[in-house]
Amino acid sequence: MPKTYKITLLPGDGIGPEVIAESVKVLDAIAEKSDFNFEYTEAPAGGAAIDAHNDPMPASTLEVCKASDAVLLGAVGGPKWDDLTGALRPESGLLKLRKELGAFANLRPVAVPPSLAESSPLRPGAVIGVDLLTVRELTGGIYFGEPIGNDGTEAFNTMRYHVDEIERVARVAFEWARKRRNKVTSVDKANVLEVMRLWRDTVIKLHQAEFSDIELDHLYIDNATMQMVINPRGFDVILTGNIFGDILSDTSATLGGSLGLLPSASIGGGIGLFEPVHGSAPDIAGQDKANPIAMILSAAMMLDELGEEAAAHAIREGLEAALGHNARTADLWHEGYKKASTSEMGGLIRDEALKHL
Ligand code: NAD
Ligand code: IPM
Ligand code: MN
Repeated sequence: MPKTYKITLLPGDGIGPEVIAESVKVLDAIAEKSDFNFEYTEAPAGGAAIDAHNDPMPASTLEVCKASDAVLLGAVGGPKWDDLTGALRPESGLLKLRKELGAFANLRPVAVPPSLAESSPLRPGAVIGVDLLTVRELTGGIYFGEPIGNDGTEAFNTMRYHVDEIERVARVAFEWARKRRNKVTSVDKANVLEVMRLWRDTVIKLHQAEFSDIELDHLYIDNATMQMVINPRGFDVILTGNIFGDILSDTSATLGGSLGLLPSASIGGGIGLFEPVHGSAPDIAGQDKANPIAMILSAAMMLDELGEEAAAHAIREGLEAALGHNARTADLWHEGYKKASTSEMGGLIRDEALKHL
């Protein structure tokens, strides 16, 4: 009997459904040639769930997610729901899902092969060979800290971390560094914020106790943002909190030329959530223009987590081969290339991936 993985699909809003369709296209083709199958259940999330159930993360969607082996999410949010506040916002639904799944570590890998260097806003010589992994804390910090308030005149959020929350995500970063190039850069604001002082002290203690074989350095977030642009090859694993990771990872995505390239895996609770780093891109939604690569690579990260490494590898190799063709979606397009639609790019990656199985 072939193995069957139960996958929850949360297409969400804007380009979410468009890129989810491409990842399913690739996954189905791979499954056809492998000894496993996928059983998909689709559920509403974000704005789509507000429209259907007046709740951005309905209990019924959470139930489906928790009964599956993995969750693939497209993107949530958009102008239609921008006047909503607090727990009613599409984005709050995503935060709730991450929390409910216990997905405290978010892995955001960036690699720039020579085929993408020309699309980068930086000089090709500065980005070829970039290979970094941001490990972003995902269920704590200022995104979740209490108290929160807004009386119309004054408003506040609270950045707080417990030592246990810092330690568990730092452990993920150090363990990844051992599988990579043995270096962790912890990014904080320990020169100003008390909570970041605890962050740094905790990382140092864990390093001394369990990971002294790994090279560890520390950067303040302002400097880290600059180093990302002037010396991106200097990074191996970046460990950082929730809000700094959000910001720094969008910057890292542009090294290869587009946010539409950057996948992520949100893990820690058993059931992984695999979501591109980009949002619903309202400016290009519905035009068959979105880059499906971030979503397809998120599906590859899912395959890795499920233990289907050969299939994940085939997707990555297929992508590299696809980038060898002269087709690019609009976000990466430049002179000498043919413009590819979302579905053409997905089809090309699928066809190339199959050759690498
Ligand atoms: P965005 O990531 O949606 O878009 C930023 C820019 O990048 C836009 O110009 C967009 O066209 C481009 N872009 C993004 N993904 C692309 C892709 N796959 N291919 C080509 N171009 C791509 O960020 P935003 O405009 O700040 O936010 C739009 C909405 O998405 C907001 O409601 C926001 O809250 C939400 N959002 C959701 C997620 C998520 O669901 N994980 C992440 C970020 C933002
Ligand atoms: C991301 C997004 C989300 C975040 C939003 C949509 C809640 O920007 O995944 O990077 O800030 O975590
Ligand atoms: Mn973000």
